[in-house]
Amino acid sequence: MKSFYNAEKISENVWWVGAVDWSVRNFHGYLTGRGTTYNAFLIIDEKVTLIDTVKKGFFAEMMERISSVIDPRKIDYIISNHAEPDHSGCLAEAIAAIQPERVIASAMGAKTLKAYYGIDVEIAKDPVSIGCGSLSFVETRMLHWPDSMVCFYDRDGVLFSQDAFGQHLAGSKLWADEYDPSLLEYEMSKYYANIINAQSAKVLTVLDALIALNLDIKVVAPDHGPLFRKDFDKIFAAYRRYAEQKPCARAVVVFCTMWHATEELARAFADGVRYAGVEVELIDLAVSERSAVMTAVAASGLAAFGAPTMNNQVFPAMADVLTYIRGLKPQNKIGFAFGSCGWSGEGAKQITAELEAMKFDLPIPFIQSKYKPTEEELKNIFDAGYTLAEKLKQSL
Ligand code: FEO
Repeated sequence: MKSFYNAEKISENVWWVGAVDWSVRNFHGYLTGRGTTYNAFLIIDEKVTLIDTVKKGFFAEMMERISSVIDPRKIDYIISNHAEPDHSGCLAEAIAAIQPERVIASAMGAKTLKAYYGIDVEIAKDPVSIGCGSLSFVETRMLHWPDSMVCFYDRDGVLFSQDAFGQHLAGSKLWADEYDPSLLEYEMSKYYANIINAQSAKVLTVLDALIALNLDIKVVAPDHGPLFRKDFDKIFAAYRRYAEQKPCARAVVVFCTMWHATEELARAFADGVRYAGVEVELIDLAVSERSAVMTAVAASGLAAFGAPTMNNQVFPAMADVLTYIRGLKPQNKIGFAFGSCGWSGEGAKQITAELEAMKFDLPIPFIQSKYKPTEEELKNIFDAGYTLAEKLKQSL
């Protein structure tokens, strides 16, 4: 009889045995509006092998899915591709319940798992035969953590890519081609912008290394969201495009406001951009959050940030967003700072300093109005939007 949580076959000898987290909305500061999945995989070869586990709290779901196809105590090996707790949170429980012959991770993974859980594991060395097929490993340091690696099961052509190519997207369908392509593209780009972007230079190196291996890939199985069974060129090309961060013909204006002065400036700037024929999005931080902002910044060649001054500081919502974005290291952006103040006026200066630290190109000095923008200031900031949008178009 089928159990409540069942495994799903993804290839001749591999099963998905992960968990769906429909409820999570805050993933270490990333707003996961559509939940996520923690994907784990079971290979039934001569040596039964579990690839990754799931977040703490989802152990029972994973074990029930495994039990729907095999007694979990028959698992011989566990591979930990990534030690972040969303994939290792129940590893200790799994080891206790399964008592596997071998637990394997990268060298950095071994250190991380020891630090988190006191677990001693074996360090991956290529290849590990598991019977008719074998597992080969490629270290992908900093994608997403120093311990990260991917592994390839040659018998079925499955690339277990851990965080790479993932999306925070809960669903009842297993395959990416069963989802609306624009939804999938948005969630993949959002995931990249908020999780991977800071390591874009390494992404290009890893992509080249994977392509050079000339793997006969039949399935790409990330640790979050749906899996891919076709169009591998497209997802590799998407990651290359995200990583290269070439300027694109789109602008975003991010603002917060106290008494609508900064909002008026934001709208006037955006209208100047629009007048130049460049698509522009306004994001009001009162009704948005940092991961949506970072997604929009990553997808834009021009990013303007405006905030009031409060208590001699930039308004806190803007400080939060800029700190977050700075850590993710967006490249090749034209930037602009603006704001409003009553007297001291540190806000736009602090935004400018942050954008300079991020190496944004700032061709026009900040514009800051006192109390309420004058007609002349509104015209000036409209012109700034127009001029920067024209400059963006010339750079494409
Ligand atoms: Fe899904 Fe970096 O963990």
